[in-house]
Amino acid sequence: MALPPELFVLAGPGLALGLAFGYARFVEPRWLKTTTRCLALLPLTAGADRIKILHLSDLHHSDSVSLRYLRRSLEWAVQTQPDLILLTGDYITTRIDDERFLEILKLLPQAAPTFACPGNHDGGPWAQAMAGYATTGPIQRLLEDAGIRYLGNDWTLINVKGVAIAIGGMGDLWAMQCEPEAIQEPFNTAQADLKLLLSHNPDSKAKLAALDWDLMLSGHTHGGQFRLPILGAPFAPIKDKAFLVGLCPYGNRWIHVTAGLGNVHGLRFNCRPEISVIQLVKRGQGESAGT
Ligand SMILES: [Fe+2]
Repeated sequence: MALPPELFVLAGPGLALGLAFGYARFVEPRWLKTTTRCLALLPLTAGADRIKILHLSDLHHSDSVSLRYLRRSLEWAVQTQPDLILLTGDYITTRIDDERFLEILKLLPQAAPTFACPGNHDGGPWAQAMAGYATTGPIQRLLEDAGIRYLGNDWTLINVKGVAIAIGGMGDLWAMQCEPEAIQEPFNTAQADLKLLLSHNPDSKAKLAALDWDLMLSGHTHGGQFRLPILGAPFAPIKDKAFLVGLCPYGNRWIHVTAGLGNVHGLRFNCRPEISVIQLVKRGQGESAGT
């Protein structure tokens, strides 16, 4: 017996919603992409023509982001052969509940010098209110045990392929631990070819404007995580949505926001997880962005 056409009309929207949910839950959160963007920031006198930065963020180790997925993501990421790896927070969603996470994180410093700042999920008053850690201590220990240099309101000066790079890392804005005055004097006076700043939340940019940085690297937004036609990214946790994702000009400086590797609540839609590569070239060689 043929089914009445009204049944298909009624079932259609439900079927479409079910398929969209299945895609957002089981396909897109693990459908990694690599994005490469080029930025002309190196001085003409720098000792290298090109420095490749791997920028990763928001791993969100949790029930919704498996260690198997994170291992595959980091193995894929280091295949880009970076000169420098920068991490911008939210390594966990609530707690470190599997010690194998440490072994996975070790993949990064084995590939290149790695530096990291904390995110809002990594400890502090905001995280504690969400059943997380009261301080960033456990995450700092985890990262340092993995061989990653932790920068929470701290900075360092390194040499990469003959280029002197100052790297500052901020405490998180929502954790009320973003304290630029803690690094203002040494960071602003350091002799460096390039000054990079790690700050989880791009909304911290105004607070950090007095620091002398060329490029700020951020995460936090997950690129919106759920991007809809017409509505855009209604759940993006930032005030200034001009800095949702990608390479964004900020006065005569730049802010790079990566969509990150993980997620919260196990969903992504129209906003795939991202391995971000930034190719720094000499000034005058032009800025460009591409996937
Ligand atoms: Fe996050």
